[in-house]
Amino acid sequence: MSSNLKIAVVGATGAVGEVMLDILSEHGFKHTQITALASKRSEGSSVNFGRRELNVQCLDDFDFSLVDYALFSAGGSISLKYAPRAVVAGCTVIDNSSAFRLDDAIPLIVPEVNGALLKDFTHPGIIANPNCSTMQMVVALEPIQRKYGIRRIDVATYQAVSGAGRKAQEELAKQTMQKMSFQDIECQQFSQQMVFNVLPQIDVLQDNGYSGEEMKMHWETRKIFSDESIVVNATAVRVPVFFGHAEAIHLETVKPFELDDVEQLLRTAPGVVYTPNLEGSEHPTPAVHAAGEDPVFVGRLRRDHSRGLGMNLWVVADNIRKGAALNAIQIMQVLETARTEG
Ligand code: A2P
Repeated sequence: MSSNLKIAVVGATGAVGEVMLDILSEHGFKHTQITALASKRSEGSSVNFGRRELNVQCLDDFDFSLVDYALFSAGGSISLKYAPRAVVAGCTVIDNSSAFRLDDAIPLIVPEVNGALLKDFTHPGIIANPNCSTMQMVVALEPIQRKYGIRRIDVATYQAVSGAGRKAQEELAKQTMQKMSFQDIECQQFSQQMVFNVLPQIDVLQDNGYSGEEMKMHWETRKIFSDESIVVNATAVRVPVFFGHAEAIHLETVKPFELDDVEQLLRTAPGVVYTPNLEGSEHPTPAVHAAGEDPVFVGRLRRDHSRGLGMNLWVVADNIRKGAALNAIQIMQVLETARTEG
């Protein structure tokens, strides 16, 4: 990676921004010039970058011509307002919000699945990072889609509170303390009690009764796989876990499959760690296996006993790392490799 690279992290004080900075420092960007940006409220505060501290600057008047890349994770309205301005200033944006994901002119990229599309990317421009639940699902299902084709996916998610941002994490911690000391539970970030509970709505309900999060999984999966025939029927659920989303996936393939072959595909799939579905296996879990780790963990693979082309699996990943920050940085690394080699 070029040592002259200049990167801005927009939303550097947030849950995803913090992990972006951690990953940048872990992945050999220690000597890169990093600018931490957030709202006026955070101006003058500092964030950690490896062993260094970075001063947080205000996004409002930042000159994007000073950086090569901007990694945005400050919400859709901020991306809509500032990402086009950054591009006009000559900066390439990798955007973690949903603002541009379904725009036909903007690539929606998971390097393990459709990273090859980046060969045709022209700087400066915008690349969208998928929703965290879609991300881990497509990494796990890519080899199955490529070899057998997928007709439909029925999925129930078990999503960590960090996906709702730093304040949501703090609210779960506070509710835990309130519950354990027999106090009343306060809800500001969540519609109902989150501690010792599960909430079956993430994002706003649409006219068809699905939530926004559920429909994102449908639309984004089709775009990433470049396959308009796939149907994703999702129920997205928030659970009182801090880091790591889990998904129970029930899918139907187009062509008949051998389970042994699917296992073999998963053992060698990029970005996947596969655990066999055997008695005594330590099945992957969010808090113990995924939190703080890069891979997508897959387990509980079995044939659906009720239909010939059906299989079930369990997919777990750190929603803030592979589900957001890590994927954005991987996209940037692929772009930079292409740029330096080309
Ligand atoms: P700030 O901490 O100054 O509010 P999270 O998803 O964890 O809630 O984090 C959201 C991130 O987006 C934070 O870094 C937050 O900064 C940033 N952000 C929110 N609103 C703005 C804004 N108007 N301008 C710049 N950054 C913003």
